[in-house]
Amino acid sequence: MPQRDSLQNTFLVAFVLCLVCSLVVSSAAVVLRPIKEKNERIAFQREVLSVAGLYEKGKTKDSEIPELYKQIKTVMIDLSTGEVTDAVKDPENFKLSDVAKNEDLTVEIPADKDLAGIKRREKYTKIYIVSKPDGSIDQLILPVRGKGLWSTIWGLLSLDSDGKTVRGLTFYEDGETPGLGGEINNPKWKAKWSNPECPKVLFNDEGQVDISFYKGVVTCDMPDSEHKFDALAGATITTRGVENMFKFWLGDEGYGPLLKKIREGQFPVTKLSSVSQ
Ligand SMILES: Cc1cc2nc3c(=O)[nH]c(=O)nc-3n(C[C@H](O)[C@H](O)[C@H](O)COP(=O)(O)O)c2cc1C
Repeated sequence: MPQRDSLQNTFLVAFVLCLVCSLVVSSAAVVLRPIKEKNERIAFQREVLSVAGLYEKGKTKDSEIPELYKQIKTVMIDLSTGEVTDAVKDPENFKLSDVAKNEDLTVEIPADKDLAGIKRREKYTKIYIVSKPDGSIDQLILPVRGKGLWSTIWGLLSLDSDGKTVRGLTFYEDGETPGLGGEINNPKWKAKWSNPECPKVLFNDEGQVDISFYKGVVTCDMPDSEHKFDALAGATITTRGVENMFKFWLGDEGYGPLLKKIREGQFPVTKLSSVSQ
């Protein structure tokens, strides 16, 4: 009979311990996956509601989110045409972070047009619409992303029904330095994008993207202030990343075709029905 502290027993105990631990960890991952997915879904819905001004931090309870989110209509768009599409097989489970990594669901962006530095962009994407009581568009919420200094910055931009005036802005994922590039999520900085008394407009009268960042504080009495934004102090690279991200997503390779239709009143608002939540 082998001794209790023999080499053979030591390996056996280590093996059984590893097996039990791996079973516990993998069962926990399987059991917790639906909870994790639900929490991720709620977290994203919170971002959509907050950029739409329908969620107040510290006031709105998480339990209220599913009910509030019923106000949001989701629509799949073909980015190259700006048309509503039913080409996506499973819109309910469309997750942009997964789609963006899938070669079959994305197209390569020519290097000279890749202002956001993301190399590929999705063929179809999900946009979020807040409607007015009469069914017409109140706000259009568009997912955007682009390279900052250290990371890809993921955000949501809310536009007015005119397709060019900013109603809200949020960044829900980034790896920029807190206090420097991370200031893109400073509520004071973001609030300046959506101040109704000093509105920010992303296109000029000719329909060209018109935004620039200014080192200092942009005040409403400055000429062209509706197209000017405060650059972040000590974070020129992140600021440039945000500028290029918007120039890309508002341009022809991004939401340009859709926004042109909206500005010209050709987007079929009345025919819209939500394809997925
Ligand atoms: C540790 C460290 C972290 C930094 N993080 C950022 C950042 O997140 N975003 C950014 O634009 N610049 C960051 N910088 C600063 C850049 O290197 C660069 O100096 C800055 O973007 C220049 O901005 P300014 O012209 O406003 O000074 C960081 C610098 C250091 C040393």
